[in-house]
Amino acid sequence: MRARILGAGIVGLSVADELIRRGHDVEVVDPAPGSGASYAAAGMLSPAGEAWHGEETLTRLGLASLALWPEFARRLGVSVHTRGTLLAGVDAGDVQQVERQLAVLDLAGVAHERLGRRELLAREPGLGRIAGGAFLSDDHSVDPRAVVAALLDRVGDRVGPERRPVGRAVSAGERVETNTAAEVTVIATGANLPGPYARLIRPVRGDVVRVRTQEPVERTVRAWVHGEQVYVVPRVESDEMVIGATSEERDGPLLPSVEGVWRLLDLARRVVPSLDRASVVEVTSRDRPGTADNLPLVGPTHEPGVVLAAGAFRNGILLAPLIAQQVADHVETGSVEPAVDPRRFRMKEDG
Ligand code: GLY
Repeated sequence: MRARILGAGIVGLSVADELIRRGHDVEVVDPAPGSGASYAAAGMLSPAGEAWHGEETLTRLGLASLALWPEFARRLGVSVHTRGTLLAGVDAGDVQQVERQLAVLDLAGVAHERLGRRELLAREPGLGRIAGGAFLSDDHSVDPRAVVAALLDRVGDRVGPERRPVGRAVSAGERVETNTAAEVTVIATGANLPGPYARLIRPVRGDVVRVRTQEPVERTVRAWVHGEQVYVVPRVESDEMVIGATSEERDGPLLPSVEGVWRLLDLARRVVPSLDRASVVEVTSRDRPGTADNLPLVGPTHEPGVVLAAGAFRNGILLAPLIAQQVADHVETGSVEPAVDPRRFRMKEDG
């Protein structure tokens, strides 16, 4: 099979890697590989920490993809940070929010350990005023930039803006070129899908702050702070921590907002007070590729030979190996996971 993949973020590259592994001929088209949402992502592999009422299917997909990560990471030669994740609530209402998440996890049969204030501080002495929370032993993290670099290494010179004369880079609003040498075109262009597919995505902007610190937390902390959410993710192999993320449906240039960054830092330093002594090294803003039902779009479209690997929303890093497997299975056998079948939405202008 000759496949052309549009988009060299973590999803497009994972699809490319999987297809190459299965012996297919692959080309990846992207004028700026790895510079989209994957570049901003904190890298949480956190299906339990992201679980919410009404999103049970997403939790199921996240757990299935989490199970693929150890082998995926081993193949790429990247580390997975396996010290688990703490859920923390600052006040009684916030602890109730944690309880709501734990109720969803109980239904899904996901292990968790409820922790009081003292137990939380015993696990993570650097926490500030926390009323209670929980430990999620199976929610981990990776460095998405390291993952993308490893994938780019593996996919090699098959990635480029227009390496072979089989088409041209496609950006939002353009039609997909299907009259190329490729038998299948996989669209993995994140929040900017081309032509008729653009309407399937709602970009959800996230501002993210990276800091350097001598006092890192041991594990990912996901906190509720008087009804608002913030997370702090330590990197395994450096003194960097990632603080995220705002969530806003706004347009305009990809620049972090003053209000968003101020709010993130304000929330994060209440949870981890030593952040006051950290240095800010980077502030990034990118759009998450959201869908109407928060589930990904993976599989066929109304155009023969055009397949979507899109709409991973808040879970692109977590879901990348599963989406890669689903796309490769679809290309080879025609199989589609009904929950993520893009045809659940109307795609054609005329219906
Ligand atoms: N998965 C974390 C985020 O989208 O902010």
